[in-house]
Amino acid sequence: MHSITRLQEIINAELQKRSDDLRKMTPPNLYNPVDYSLEMGGKRLRPVLLLLSYNIFSDAVSEAIPAAVAIEVFHNFTLLHDDIMDKAQVRRNRPTVHIKFSENNAILSGDVMAFLSYKYLLECKSKRLSEVLELFTKTAIEVCEGQQFDMEFENRLNVSNVEYLEMIRLKTAVLLACGLKAGALLANADNIVANQLYEFGLNLGLAFQLQDDLLDSFGNQQSFGKKIGGDILANKKTFLSINALQNAGAELKSELLYWMNIAEYNQDEKIKAVLNIYNQLNIKQLTEQKIESYFQKCRKVFQQISVEDERKKQLIEISNSMLNRVF
Ligand code: IPE
Ligand code: IPE
Ligand code: MG
Ligand code: MG
Ligand code: MG
Repeated sequence: MHSITRLQEIINAELQKRSDDLRKMTPPNLYNPVDYSLEMGGKRLRPVLLLLSYNIFSDAVSEAIPAAVAIEVFHNFTLLHDDIMDKAQVRRNRPTVHIKFSENNAILSGDVMAFLSYKYLLECKSKRLSEVLELFTKTAIEVCEGQQFDMEFENRLNVSNVEYLEMIRLKTAVLLACGLKAGALLANADNIVANQLYEFGLNLGLAFQLQDDLLDSFGNQQSFGKKIGGDILANKKTFLSINALQNAGAELKSELLYWMNIAEYNQDEKIKAVLNIYNQLNIKQLTEQKIESYFQKCRKVFQQISVEDERKKQLIEISNSMLNRVF
């Protein structure tokens, strides 16, 4: 079995190769942002999950590499558009694509990445490729649905925890789950096991987005690579903001609403004020508990996955390594 680090190396080498090919294509202004986005790091979580899952059933991981590349390219496409939608200027400690190039570049290069992801996926030789394509397409549509909910929630104050969890299931968790299930299908695994892996991925994905929301407010900009407080500035409805609104007494609530409704403000001042409210309400601890509860669900689903411990142990290893992530 391949180690997680080895799988990351395999993916990075393959992405490098694909980038080298794209760099020769015209028009360069379409492909340069793609190259920029793919070369600028990232944890490669989704392709690693796909290859880990494939590796449970087969050692011939090279067969699944095009699908691993496909899911990473798809993920990076969503980031190009997400950064426009979220008005984010920094990602992976570098200017986002729409800042470095232009908004139009980020839209169109994002589009081409979405299509490239299908092109790469079609290279897979598995006899169950059509099932994988169906899953991939369903997932892509769900991500769009989640992103739309995310945007709409910015303008609402009464978003519930249930609505939030459904939104992050769609925008984030299904893609991690898709990677795990796709790996299993490509290796021609049993449907029951493939669905257990999907379930594992959903819980991991929910924990992962909760962590992302926590780091967005309480992380370190250098390690996280994104602006701290971006969600606060955009009035994102995250587990943090929803529970702050729900748990605040009259005074703190009106203070929070003041900052959510104000049109003209100093960015640092707003971030500082909202963080101060979060601190008074112990929102960090509350979010950490919620994250832990999803990791616990992961462990429970893991026990149920009907393959021998030796083959699946790296799944628990990767989820453990994510437990205290800072980036
Ligand atoms: C960022 O994903 C978008 C979310 C779903 C939170 P990652 O945190 O996996 O981003 P990279 O690819 O490692 O930069
Ligand atoms: C991103 O959620 C989900 C998708 C890109 C589909 P976020 O907007 O929280 O991701 P970051 O924080 O910008 O990476
Ligand atoms: Mg977003
Ligand atoms: Mg964003
Ligand atoms: Mg975020």
